[in-house]
Amino acid sequence: MEHLNQVLLHENSRVGPDLEAWLAHGGGAGLEIALQEPAALIPLIKESGLRGLGGSGFPTHRKWTAVAEKKHSKEKYLICNGNEDEPGTFKDRILLEETPHQVIEGAMIAALATGINRIVFYINPDIEDAIANMQSSVAQWEGSDFYLKVSDQIQQPLDFSILRSSGHYIGGEETAAIESVEKKFPFPRRKPPFPAENGVHGCPTLIDNIETLSNVSHIVKNGAKWYQDLGIGNACGTKIYSLSGDILSPGVYELPMGTSLSDLINIYGGGMLVNKKLKAVFTGGPSNTLLTPKDLDVPLDFDSVAARRSSLGTGAMIVVSEGTGIVKRVAEYVSFFAHSSCGQCPPCKTGTYYIAMLLNKIDMGQGRRADLEALINLCEILPGSGRCALINGAVKVLESSLYHFMGEYEHSLKD
Ligand SMILES: Cc1cc2nc3c(=O)[nH]c(=O)nc-3n(C[C@H](O)[C@H](O)[C@H](O)COP(=O)(O)O)c2cc1C
Ligand code: SF4
Repeated sequence: MEHLNQVLLHENSRVGPDLEAWLAHGGGAGLEIALQEPAALIPLIKESGLRGLGGSGFPTHRKWTAVAEKKHSKEKYLICNGNEDEPGTFKDRILLEETPHQVIEGAMIAALATGINRIVFYINPDIEDAIANMQSSVAQWEGSDFYLKVSDQIQQPLDFSILRSSGHYIGGEETAAIESVEKKFPFPRRKPPFPAENGVHGCPTLIDNIETLSNVSHIVKNGAKWYQDLGIGNACGTKIYSLSGDILSPGVYELPMGTSLSDLINIYGGGMLVNKKLKAVFTGGPSNTLLTPKDLDVPLDFDSVAARRSSLGTGAMIVVSEGTGIVKRVAEYVSFFAHSSCGQCPPCKTGTYYIAMLLNKIDMGQGRRADLEALINLCEILPGSGRCALINGAVKVLESSLYHFMGEYEHSLKD
C-alpha cells in the first residue's frame, strides 16, 4: 500500500474542522509563503503542472491568468465547485468534510494570485456534514490573522460564502454554477464569453474543482518539482480515484497520477469480487468512455488515458464484471443524462431520451438493425449540438460502448 493517500487524504490533512489542528500539522505554511510574493504564484502553479481535477484536465494556471489579467475589476469571484452529483464520483465530499482547511487555504491562495475578493464554496446540498464542517472552518479563518493579511493584500475585505447548489447534476457545469450564485436556476450559458470575461454579475470569475484547489497550499509549501515528482512518468501530482463496482474494496484512493488501472483495481481495490472476471471499466464516470481488460496496463493520467480513446474525467472508475449487460448499463447512464438535461437545447433534451429509448428497446430484445444504425448516426450528429458538454458526455459513453461491444449490441437485435 505504498503511495496510498500521501497528500490530500494524508492523516495530517484529514483533521476535520479544527483550524488549530490544521496549523499544528503544517497547514498555513503555504499561505504564509504566498503572502510574501503573490506575483510568483501563477508561474509556480504553471511549473507544477497542476490541471483541473473536476473532469477537464485543463491547465489551472491558464484560468488563473485570465482572471488575474482583469486588473481593473473591483469585484472578482472564485467558485469552488463542490456540486459533485455524477454517479460514481465521490471524492470532493470527503475533501470538504474531512479536509476543509486544505480547501479553504487553497482558495485563499487562488484569491491572492488573481486578486479575487469573493470566494463561494458551492456545495452539493445532500452532504450536510461537509457543509457544517465548511461553515465552522470558514468562521475560524475569518477570525484569523491570515484573513486580515489576505484582505490587506487584495486591498478589500475577503468575502466568503457557502452556497448549497440546487442539487441538479447540471448545476456543476461552470456557467450553470454562475447562474446559481446569481440565485437563478442553473441553466448553462453560451460560451464565449468565458467566466473569466463575464462571470457572476458580469464580473471576472474563476471556477475550480475542490480537488484542484486542495492541492494548491501543498504546491506552494513544497514547490513545483515536489508536485511533479509525485506523479509517475510525465504525469504530475496525485489523483483521488473514486473506485466502485464489482470489486472487493470500493472507495476513494489517493495515488500517484499515472498509477496503472491494474494496480488500482487489483492492489488498492482488492481485486474483483469472488468468481467475477473484469469486463470493462467506465472511466471518469458515466459521461465518459470505457476501458477493457486489454487496457489494464494503462497509466491513469489525462494523456495516457486519452491515448486509449478514453478520458480520465473526474477519476471515477466504475468496474463491471462479465455478466453485466453493457447495453442495459449504458441505457441507465443515458437515462440519467436525459433526466439531468436542462432542456434548453432541443437536440440534447430529445436526443438523450431517444438514445435511452433505443437502448432499452435493444436491451429488451426488441431492437432492429435500423435502431442500431440510428444510434450510430446520433453519435455523429449530436456532439457539439448543445450549449454545454452534457450532451457530449451522453454520446461519448454510447459511442465507446459501440466501439468496444458492438458484438453485444448486434447479438441483442431482433433481426
Ligand atoms: C454537466 C456537467 C457537470 C459538471 N459537474 C461538475 C461538478 O460537479 N464539479 C466540478 O468540479 N466540475 C464539474 N463540471 C466541470 C465544470 O464545468 C468545470 O470544468 C470545473 O468545475 C472546473 O474546475 P477544474 O478546472 O478545477 O477542473 C461539470 C461539467 C459538466 C458539463
Ligand atoms: S446541452 Fe443539454 S444540459 Fe447543456 S445546456 Fe443544452 S439542454 Fe441544457
